[in-house]
Amino acid sequence: MSNAKKHAAKSAAKLIPEHGAIGLGSGSTVALFAEELGKRIADGEIDVSVVPSSYQAYQLAVIHGIPLTNLDLNPELILTVDGADEVDKNLNLIKGGGGALFQEKIVASASHRLIIIVDESKIVGHLAMQCDVPVEVLPFALGVVRRKIIELGITPTLREAKRKMGPVVTDNGNFILDLRFPEPIEDPSAIAVTLKMIPGVVETGLFVGMTDEVHVGKESEAYILRKDQGAS
Ligand code: A5P
Repeated sequence: MSNAKKHAAKSAAKLIPEHGAIGLGSGSTVALFAEELGKRIADGEIDVSVVPSSYQAYQLAVIHGIPLTNLDLNPELILTVDGADEVDKNLNLIKGGGGALFQEKIVASASHRLIIIVDESKIVGHLAMQCDVPVEVLPFALGVVRRKIIELGITPTLREAKRKMGPVVTDNGNFILDLRFPEPIEDPSAIAVTLKMIPGVVETGLFVGMTDEVHVGKESEAYILRKDQGAS
């Protein structure tokens, strides 16, 4: 595991409140954050519960002894710590590389602050420079959603499972289309709205205007990008 991810996770861990409910994102960087969170809870330093954003996050909480809660008991979260696949200069994100974008976005929307932890390779000038944009699609609507996306000049690929025949089925029972854009995205907000307006698109992996801080890990340290502020 790279030191960069560890530095990002440790940097964000400084923001954990002493009490209350927070959101727990998904991914390999969040796994390092969950380890740190579990240690602090075990040491009695903090009294925090988490709303998990995926089955993976749920399992992380169980493994590290982190108390679980949900959005019915805690519809307002102090903050969420999550990973990302790409981060642009306005802190807009592509998420969903691990297929968990839908619940991640709901948990982030319940949070006063969204804190993102990434290594430096995720920082890009414009979104879709390195990654496809995942969208979660109702299986019933797959054919028509695929057609409408192709009509927009975007290339969709149905995400295939690795150790199961057929498509990936998300935590919500849906499919994922990975969208290859012909060029980097200039206006993520407009694209997010266009995609979300297609009936059958459950959610997109574009997180626009949601992020408050990005903790960027390097081999030796981490630095922080803040909304409307740049690096510090
Ligand atoms: C999960 O679907 C994603 O949104 C993850 O948050 C994202 O893929 C980052 O994962 P890593 O920390 O493993 O790169």
